[in-house]
Amino acid sequence: MHIKLNHLRQNLAGRLIGHRIYYLQQTGSTNDDAFRLGSQGEPEGTVVIAGTQTAGKGRMSRAWHSPPQANIYTSIILRPGFDVRRAPQISIAAGVAVAETLEQYCPDKVQLKWPNDVLIAGRKICGILSQVKMSADAIDFVVAGIGVNVNMDKEQFPADIHETATSLSIEASRRIPRTDLIIRLYENMSKWYRELLAEGFGAVRDKWLSLSPMIGLPVAVRFHDETITGTAAGLGDDGSLAVVTGDNKTTMVSAGDATILKKVEDYASGH
Ligand code: BTN
Repeated sequence: MHIKLNHLRQNLAGRLIGHRIYYLQQTGSTNDDAFRLGSQGEPEGTVVIAGTQTAGKGRMSRAWHSPPQANIYTSIILRPGFDVRRAPQISIAAGVAVAETLEQYCPDKVQLKWPNDVLIAGRKICGILSQVKMSADAIDFVVAGIGVNVNMDKEQFPADIHETATSLSIEASRRIPRTDLIIRLYENMSKWYRELLAEGFGAVRDKWLSLSPMIGLPVAVRFHDETITGTAAGLGDDGSLAVVTGDNKTTMVSAGDATILKKVEDYASGH
């Protein structure tokens, strides 16, 4: 099933997100394309969509597996005009928008894991990579890159993520038309982005917290060689995770990979 470009363009004409669409059958990374377009002055709401990526980028210098004609690979250019410290709020809002969209296909099964992984049945179904272009202290633009595994079969996942990743078709037990999914995703993203601009982070944060099972639980957050363990306690205004450590201090963690632990001691004792 191909993405129906005409249908997409008709539905998104005049909308905040998706009023300008660059569709590429194949590209290196839609984030790189969107970043280039943003630097050339493309307006807010311009999106790049690819059929496949040859150099899809994930967080922390990882690759994002991007096989052809199965999934969604898209990057959205946004110009929020707010302080750079708020930039991660856009990724958080994108996670909420994706989760809400996937809920329509798999009700009550979608969860968020800090910083912005979307999970179904504990397996990763979507990753988000935001990149910011600065001018002085202000944001020039943000590229919100979203990869959703839609119609990928179990055997298509590379060995290293075989047990930890999933797709919407696996979870919903049917093929999912990507065109409608993209339209819903942009609509939900517009809604949460508008909320951020008009009212600030409050409602976005609350929605994120309601979809995240990790708050109140023991977690380990690893960033390169360093690991912080403690209880996940909330989200800071800069999108960081508040972790209460053993000495009852709260540490705000701004980057890393989080794992929910059965007990904090599990991590320390290696069980
Ligand atoms: C992660 O590591 O979880 C983030 C993955 C982000 C993947 C998407 S796919 C569309 C966009 N283009 C990229 O190169 N990366 C993002």
